[in-house]
Amino acid sequence: MVENTSDSAVQAHILQHLDKNNTIDDTLQLAQQLNITHIELDKSLKSLSAEEYIALQVIEKKLIELTEEGSQYAEKGTPEFQYASGLELNTPTNKAEYDKQIGAELAKIGFSKAMQRKWVQLVPDNKELVNRLAENLEDTERDQLRKYSEFPDLDHHDKKVIDQMKKRKLVNVVTQKHYKVTKGTNFAPVRVKLETDLTADMLRTGAWKDTKFKSFNFNSTGINPEGGHLHPLLKVRSHFREILLEMGFNEMPTNRYVESSFWNFDTLFQPQSHPARDMHDTFFLKKPVLCKEFPAEYGERVKDIHEKGGFGSLGYQYKWDVNEARKNLLRTHTTAISSQMLYALANQKEFKPMKYFSIDRVFRNETLDATHLAEFHQVEGLIADRNIGLSHLISLLKEFYEKIGIKQLKFKPAYNPYTEPSMEVFGYHPQLKKWVEIGNSGVFRPEMLRPMGLPEDVSVIAWGLSLERPTMIYYGINNIKDLFGHKVSLTSTKNNKICYINP
Ligand code: PHE
Repeated sequence: MVENTSDSAVQAHILQHLDKNNTIDDTLQLAQQLNITHIELDKSLKSLSAEEYIALQVIEKKLIELTEEGSQYAEKGTPEFQYASGLELNTPTNKAEYDKQIGAELAKIGFSKAMQRKWVQLVPDNKELVNRLAENLEDTERDQLRKYSEFPDLDHHDKKVIDQMKKRKLVNVVTQKHYKVTKGTNFAPVRVKLETDLTADMLRTGAWKDTKFKSFNFNSTGINPEGGHLHPLLKVRSHFREILLEMGFNEMPTNRYVESSFWNFDTLFQPQSHPARDMHDTFFLKKPVLCKEFPAEYGERVKDIHEKGGFGSLGYQYKWDVNEARKNLLRTHTTAISSQMLYALANQKEFKPMKYFSIDRVFRNETLDATHLAEFHQVEGLIADRNIGLSHLISLLKEFYEKIGIKQLKFKPAYNPYTEPSMEVFGYHPQLKKWVEIGNSGVFRPEMLRPMGLPEDVSVIAWGLSLERPTMIYYGINNIKDLFGHKVSLTSTKNNKICYINP
C-alpha cells in the first residue's frame, strides 16, 4: 500500500516492484493493494508502457456481475422467499392486509411464485386468507447469486444456470481486462522525464548528447478543432483552385458581382433579344441602372458584328442598342470576366498564349428548388493559343475531370451563343449509377474573338461548371439548401469530414 496514490507515486511503485520481482502477475491485485481502481492504475500503466519502461500482456477475465435486481435478491432473497418467510407457518393470515404490509409489487410476484412452489396456499374455505405450508424455504436462487458475488469468475460456475439468470436479468457477464506486467526494453528503476524540446542551451553546452528525448507519437489522434471550419464549398473550391494552378492556369480577378450587359452578354455575341437577357433570367440593377462606360471603339466593333456580321459571319441583322448594353446586372456567369481578360490579352503588343481560370459567385433569377438557388458558384477555365481546337478541349476536359475524381466522361453537342462547337459534359456517377451533367464547354466563336482584336489564328477553348454540383456529390448532400444559404446549420459545417475522398 502506498501513501500517495498520485500518478507518479503509482508509477514509482510499479517500477520498484518490477526492479525487485521482475513481474507483476496480475494488475487487478495490484490495484487492490494500492487501494485504487483498475481504471486509475491503467493510466499509469499506459504511460509507462508508452515509453517502454514496462511491457503489458493482456489478461482477459469474464466475470459475473449482479444486476441491481440480482443484488437485491442476493441480499433479501427472491420475492417468493420474502413472501413466504414473512408468514408464520400454518397461521392463516388476511391476504389483503399482508400484501399491503409487504408492498403490492413484491406481493404480486412473490405470492404467485410461492404458490407454484407450494410454499403457500389460499385457505380452501376462505380465500381471503393465505397460509404458509412449507417449513423449510430453500431459496436456491438467492444462494446462487450470493456465490456469484463472492466468486465472480465465470469459469467457476455452471453455464446453463448463468444463462437462465441472464434471461431473468439478474446477472450480466462482463469482460475485465487487466495485465501481466514485465520489464520493458527501456526499463529503469526510476523514470526519467524525457525532454520534448531541443533548446539552444542544449546545443551550446553539448547537453543534447546525453539527453533522452521523447519520440513523436504518430498514432495519437488530433484534438478536434473547435473553430475555423471551412464550409464544404470553400474546401472544394480550394481543392479545385490548387488543381487548376498546378495545371498552369492563372486566376482571373472576379472580385465584383455587378457587370454591364455589355461584358456579360454583348461581347459574348449574345443577341439583345436572347431569352437569357430577359428579366426572368437575369437580375438587373435598379440603381445605377446603366454603367458609365466601356471601350468605345470596341463597342462599335461589337455593334457591327451583332448588326452586320463580319469575319465570314452574317451577324444577327438587328439594330443593336447601346443603352441595352449599358444596363447593369448581377453577372449571370463568370464568362463576363473571361471576356474582359481576353479583350485585355488582345490589346497587348504581342499575343502570348494564356491559361486562365476563376471560381466565383454568379446570379440567376431561377425558380428555387432542391438543386437550384438564385446564386451559385462557377468554375471556369480557358486556354488561348494558336493551333488548338475541339480535340484539345476534349483532352483538357478529360484531364481536369479526372483530377477531380470523375473518370468517365461523355460529351453531347450543345448550343451557346459564344461557342461553336459547344459540348455539354456528362460524368458517370458510380454511386447514383447514372450520367449527370457536370459542365458546359466550347470553342469561342470568331464573332466574339475577332472584334476584340485577337489574331485570326488564335483560338480559345473554354469550359465551365458549377461548384455546388461536385460538392453535393462529394459530401452526399441532396438538397442545396443544406449546402448554401441561411438554412445551413453551423454544426453540419463543423461536423463535416475534414477531407473528402474522391469517388
Ligand atoms: N458560361 C457558361 C455557363 O454559364 C459556361 C461556359 C464557359 C461554356 C465557357 C462554354 C465556355 O454555363
